[in-house]
Amino acid sequence: MSDGSDKQIYYSDYLKLDELLQCQELESARRGKVAHDEMLFIVIHQAYELWFKQIIWELSAVHRLFDSSTVSEPSVGEAVHHLERITEIQKVLVQQIDVLETMTPLDFLDFRDALIPASGFQSVQFRLVENMLGLRPQDRLTYGSGSYLSRLQEKHRKLLHESESRPSLFDLVDEWLSRTPFLDFGEFNFWSAYRQAVDKMLTQDKDSIESNPLLSDENKEVQLKALRGTRTEFDSLFDRELYDRLVADGKRRLSYNAFTAALLINLYRNQPILHLPFRMLTLLMDIDELFARWRHRHALMVSRMIGSKIGTGGSSGHNYLSKVAEHNRVFTDLFNLSTLYIPRSELPELPKAVVEKMGFSLG
Ligand code: HEM
Repeated sequence: MSDGSDKQIYYSDYLKLDELLQCQELESARRGKVAHDEMLFIVIHQAYELWFKQIIWELSAVHRLFDSSTVSEPSVGEAVHHLERITEIQKVLVQQIDVLETMTPLDFLDFRDALIPASGFQSVQFRLVENMLGLRPQDRLTYGSGSYLSRLQEKHRKLLHESESRPSLFDLVDEWLSRTPFLDFGEFNFWSAYRQAVDKMLTQDKDSIESNPLLSDENKEVQLKALRGTRTEFDSLFDRELYDRLVADGKRRLSYNAFTAALLINLYRNQPILHLPFRMLTLLMDIDELFARWRHRHALMVSRMIGSKIGTGGSSGHNYLSKVAEHNRVFTDLFNLSTLYIPRSELPELPKAVVEKMGFSLG
């Protein structure tokens, strides 16, 4: 259908290719000697930034869907769709490093010094993604003095500073989980039933350690100590004050209600009403893991490219990056839930009325 103008849309105009393909200006050329691989270096970074833009676009849509006092079932479905797309993009981001690694360290040295003090550390969109997901300033491992903002221009500092004050996806998911209506089991005391099952499982574990003829007394003590640690973790499910202490010590971040809701969603994920929430939680872990994978891959590539030299942005290079890969995570609580699972065969059976409430009925 015509929009009233006779002008036909043209591929190159639509995509602004004249502008886009003029955006690769080699610093080495400006300094008088073209370094062949600088083109690859620029194109790769620009490709990353375009994908970051798409991730921000998808995350913004999820934020809009969840930034509400009620999130409908179709909205969760839509959010899942956006998050799935993000994970597919992330896989491309990890894989793209293979292309970059066709550049050798000597090729990189042809233009590296011309880049100082610029660095991927200054990628505003990367930081925006981190903030939108829920990486807080206090969670960040950084280097040198000052925050990650200190190496940015004022306009970028302002933009990121603002993004820190908006609710992150972590916050929105926490609120959504805390509101889940299916935590109401009526007369049925789920937590007491779960505690009994946990006690049975941990007592069996203790017996099997103590009666294991292959373990020395010393080994037994080590394993029993680990088991006591696991018990404390379980205790935090049944004792809110203990849980809140874990939060205060930085060992948990989700609120008690959100954490226990996430546990139930995982345990009873086969109930129709929990399918989508389960998918949502799984995707949040996928996103966290894929970013960690990208960080590890980037850190390895950096060690191959510059050895133990410092980065162009002034960090300790590979050393800094490998630490950050472990440290700068957002949804670790969801990973830690696994400690608190018990075998499906031991799960308390939900009362019929609860199961009916969780099911879909076509009748
Ligand atoms: C030859 C290729 C590359 C090298 C040698 C390299 C090196 C480094 C180093 C050493 C750092 C730490 C900060 C510093 O001291 O500069 C860093 C940070 C970073 N780089 Fe790269 N990088 C390369 C390619 C890329 C690419 C293609 C991207 C894609 C956007 C990227 C994104 C980042 C990001 C986002 C950070 C910040 C990480 C954080 O602080 O969490 N880098 N890079």
